[in-house]
Amino acid sequence: MTRLLLLAALTAAAFPAAAQTGAKPARLGLCAACHGEDGRARVAEAPNLAGQRFDYLLKAMRAYKAGQRDVPAMRAALGPLSDADLEQLAHWYAGLAPCAAGAR
Ligand code: HEC
Repeated sequence: MTRLLLLAALTAAAFPAAAQTGAKPARLGLCAACHGEDGRARVAEAPNLAGQRFDYLLKAMRAYKAGQRDVPAMRAALGPLSDADLEQLAHWYAGLAPCAAGAR
């Protein structure tokens, strides 16, 4: 029982942005130049983010922020953001329709 409660508490803590699905994250403007607000990449080196899995996006962002994925542009973009900001952005991009294969 304690475990169940703990799990529920952790889940609630991990997904605080779930209630605001649909609202644009405040920090989306920091990403749009390269990834687009719609998750379709605007520059050749940047990946499409639309429709990728929430967990994957969040993990990737944390890895850039921590320097485990060593990409200066991404580290700079994420540097000033809180973990709550990262979760909102991951929710936003995960909730968009994925790009068709080969889409530019
Ligand atoms: C200056 C351009 C630029 C900006 C601004 C930028 N990114 Fe990126 N992003 C990139 C590039 C380039 C990569 C690919 C890096 C690599 O090789 O790992 C990337 C990769 C990612 C990935 C990994 C995707 C995957 O499929 O592995 C995520 C998630 C991501 N960016 C989220 C964001 C978010 C959220 C923001 C805004 C806070 C942002 N990025 C701002 C250029 C940018």
